[in-house]
Amino acid sequence: MAIRKIALNTGGGDAPGLNAVIRSAVHSALHRGWECVGIRDGYNGILEPDEYPHNGIIPLTHQSVRGITHLGGTILGTTNRGNPLNFPVRQSDGTYLEINRVDELLTRFHDEGIDALVAIGGDGSLKIANAFVEKGFPVVGVPKTIDNDIFGTEVTFGFDSAVSFATECIDRLHSTAESHHRVIVVEVMGRYAGWIALHAGVAGTADAILIPEIPYSIDKIAAKVIERDERGRHFSIIVVAEGAKPVDGETSIIGKSIGQAERLGGAGERIVHQIEALTGKESRLVVLGHLLRGGAPTTFDRLLSLRFGAAAVRSLADGMSGVMVGLEASQIHCVPFNEVAGKMRGVPTNSDIILTAKDLGITFGD
Ligand code: F6P
Repeated sequence: MAIRKIALNTGGGDAPGLNAVIRSAVHSALHRGWECVGIRDGYNGILEPDEYPHNGIIPLTHQSVRGITHLGGTILGTTNRGNPLNFPVRQSDGTYLEINRVDELLTRFHDEGIDALVAIGGDGSLKIANAFVEKGFPVVGVPKTIDNDIFGTEVTFGFDSAVSFATECIDRLHSTAESHHRVIVVEVMGRYAGWIALHAGVAGTADAILIPEIPYSIDKIAAKVIERDERGRHFSIIVVAEGAKPVDGETSIIGKSIGQAERLGGAGERIVHQIEALTGKESRLVVLGHLLRGGAPTTFDRLLSLRFGAAAVRSLADGMSGVMVGLEASQIHCVPFNEVAGKMRGVPTNSDIILTAKDLGITFGD
């Protein structure tokens, strides 16, 4: 079927580069003579009509995407509530029932004359996109997350921006830690993958890096701090991924709301108290949290986002569907959803970056 109109949406946590993907996809679609629209806030622009009195589907023109390549966030808005596969609906007794609203979305796409979708999001978004494809609706996915944990692409956009900012923060924390002879624990996001902690920790020359893929022994981290102290290095920087877990414990989860993924948190808090108790050194915690998601995309992320957006539209034009664009050996490729959805790409424990870190004297607490 010839495409005349496509929709774009952004789902899940935002990441620097979303706007660059949108601009690139819109330009690529318009110059093919297609019309382009954006769905607001994931799929909520359609699923929650009362919240969008002026329409949850907006036209995307050259004018609407002017000057946004370098801007953080997403002009379409995003959400990690309202997954159409398990949409929470409040019952009269106050409980929630999760219902599948995929057919409703497909009916609306049909009514709006939308022929295909570019779904920009993480693993959850790809699973939703796959449900459309299974019902015969064409979708191409674009992998987004600062966590860099999506299968089928060697890197996601947003990751480089998050790592660059985390590294700058670690650099800044070095001078104050050294001046005060303190231990500073820096917690970074990343969910169940340690990519951000590993890359920023090595680049920022941390003394210890704790990632979910390598459960740590707190005694080994404390020994590192004490050993440094004894050599006259009276400060230490410990970078902790939010998903890090001790050898005898689990990832620290602070909650889960209906229809959402569990929230991780508290990994740094746990460590800072233990290190202070074990070493006797004053220890402070800095949680970078959502700072890693904000701000402008780096040059690398802008270029990757522009490449992904254009590649997604090219793939649709070539008749492809049910695939995610990704990067393999620095080249764009397409991977079927069913080969990537539901799989997480963690840091391989034989990664040369881990080996490099160990050669540099950084401990992982293993
Ligand atoms: O997946 C991106 C991410 O920033 C994770 O690193 C983090 O655990 C999560 O999203 C936080 O989500 P929220 O913005 O809902 O707190």
